[in-house]
Amino acid sequence: MTIQRRTVIAAIAAAGLPLPLFAQGKLVLGFSQVGAESEWRTANTESIKASAKDAGIELKFSDAQQKQENQIKAIRSFIAQKVDVIAFSPVVESGWGTVLREAKAANIPVILSDRAVNEKDDSLWVSFMGSDFVEEGRKAGRWLVEKSKGTTGDVNIVELQGTVGSAPAIDRKKGFEEIIKADPRFKIIRSQTGDFTRAKGKEVMEAFLKAEGKKINVLYAHNDDMAIGAIQAIEEAGMKPAKDITIISIDGVKGAFEAMIAGKLNVSVECSPLLGPQLMQAAKDLKAGKALPKRIVTQEGIFPMEVAAKEFPSRKY
Ligand code: AHR
Repeated sequence: MTIQRRTVIAAIAAAGLPLPLFAQGKLVLGFSQVGAESEWRTANTESIKASAKDAGIELKFSDAQQKQENQIKAIRSFIAQKVDVIAFSPVVESGWGTVLREAKAANIPVILSDRAVNEKDDSLWVSFMGSDFVEEGRKAGRWLVEKSKGTTGDVNIVELQGTVGSAPAIDRKKGFEEIIKADPRFKIIRSQTGDFTRAKGKEVMEAFLKAEGKKINVLYAHNDDMAIGAIQAIEEAGMKPAKDITIISIDGVKGAFEAMIAGKLNVSVECSPLLGPQLMQAAKDLKAGKALPKRIVTQEGIFPMEVAAKEFPSRKY
């Protein structure tokens, strides 16, 4: 610390005022969040904010309202503020090269949290922590294949995709298709984005029902919120969710457990939003000069409706 800085700190302390961050030696983390599109995202934001507080990390949090340009602006502002570490959950996979190179040039390490980017140069981030979305899609597909054993005839599936161009939407589709393609009985007859929201999930399901009606056997939703919106649409169309139409979704949020307990959702594949503690530890490790693993995969399960009531009390999000 320079003499001038020491004098300033001494003067502030003598005046009984709180010390500025640089004097407290606090680690500063800039985090750019996608938005607040789902129950999952709200839990993720809470996990990050609470863990930063517990870890004594100064968090600069920015909500991008699902717009990539807002995330890019936030990252540039973190660079200008010279934060110690930048973390973000990219709303879409592509288009990050320029801003990531700016962070690298400023010597600020970047952690990808929850979602990946589609950039060839993997020196642009130090670590990517989060779920294996392809595997989540496979789990959903395997559950359906298992459930359909012993039945005959086509299985007509409608798919509610997540945000267009986002890693979970791309990967969950890929993983699910990889499994169901082994049997030509499984047919995706409609597939459209519901943008990971309840409102859009309901709206798109209404359109699916209008177009296909009773032909629909299965709904595969890339997240619980869209499934919950779609359940409403199915009920309003006079059909019974989870009985007339089998419903599979992803996340395992409390809302999905409530729907399963009410007998309206068949299964939810787990995707944990509780990344905060891991992220804070990673930021501290970086500050201490430690190397991080390039990929940290979250371990997750799958919850069919039969186990929902038993599991519900221990759910944390
Ligand atoms: O990236 C994780 C996904 O984003 C969650 O599955 C979804 O609910 C969220 O909005």
